[in-house]
Amino acid sequence: MTPEITPESVYRNRRQIIKASILAGTSLATASLFETFAPRRVMDNTGQALITNPEDFIYPKPGADEPANSFTDIASYNNFYEFSTSKSAVAQAAKNFKTDPWKLEIGGMVGKALLLDLAALRTIETVERIYRMRCVEGWSMVIPWIGFPLRELLERVEPTSAAKYVAFQSYHDLQQMPDSDSAGIPLPYVEGLRLDEAMHPLTLLATGLYGKTLPNQNGAPVRLVVPWKYGFKGIKSIVKITLTDQQPPTTWSTANPDEYGFYSNVNPDVPHPRWSQAHEMRIGETFRRPTLMFNGYGDQVASLYTGMDLKEHF
Ligand code: MTE
Repeated sequence: MTPEITPESVYRNRRQIIKASILAGTSLATASLFETFAPRRVMDNTGQALITNPEDFIYPKPGADEPANSFTDIASYNNFYEFSTSKSAVAQAAKNFKTDPWKLEIGGMVGKALLLDLAALRTIETVERIYRMRCVEGWSMVIPWIGFPLRELLERVEPTSAAKYVAFQSYHDLQQMPDSDSAGIPLPYVEGLRLDEAMHPLTLLATGLYGKTLPNQNGAPVRLVVPWKYGFKGIKSIVKITLTDQQPPTTWSTANPDEYGFYSNVNPDVPHPRWSQAHEMRIGETFRRPTLMFNGYGDQVASLYTGMDLKEHF
């Protein structure tokens, strides 16, 4: 089944009109807006549209006040070391990555372990969120993700009271990722969150972007998105999620513990040992802009870190 897709120009135009109508304080019926602009559909395996609720498009999304980067920016400048360490080469190298069939295993300290396939993942109600994303290397983008809050999945497996952390693991296989041998990082790629971070409503498992199924280079079929943390926390092509009572290892902090910590919150006051994190270059802009604490999501997430020294726990 070929998904019906709204061209990016229409998508942007629709967003501008929605924004204009919100700004003007009109009570323009959203339903008719969506009829006019025929929101794009991402289909599940039964042909049902995954996004059916017009409200999903006007959720007061953090970052929605900023224009999104183009689909081309987002899908052609990537970090996915299993395929290539060159950002512009990832899309081509990942072109034939097989993401269907796919199994996602969720277990560990849970009441009900699950083994989900893509069809099961697609039954989880999908939302759209436009998030600012900040890479530790100093560039940033605004990305309209499609996905579902990770907590939707975690609640289904019923974490036990002993579970304190969530560990994630990416797919890895030398046949499909022959260049991963020279990636220079331990693989499979792994990441972790504290359970309260994982349960936070901003934390998504993304299955698409720009109204399209997630491109392979962006982490198909399912990847993590944590908008207040550096981009490397956004582990791609996830095959395993494990609830645990131990802080899990993460690829970058294992590879280089002096440079990358477990928390990896966007924090302009904590420089990377080799460069400042005070400013960032939004892809597509000319001048660097100041980086915001928690990438601008402090109102929603700062309370998760009350009492912690964020210079020590970088
Ligand atoms: N996940 C896996 N499995 N492998 C990777 O190399 N790179 C990370 C993260 N997730 C990476 C990964 C880094 S360093 C970044 S900045 C983001 O993915 C980039 O996501 P994007 O290419 O969708 O912008």
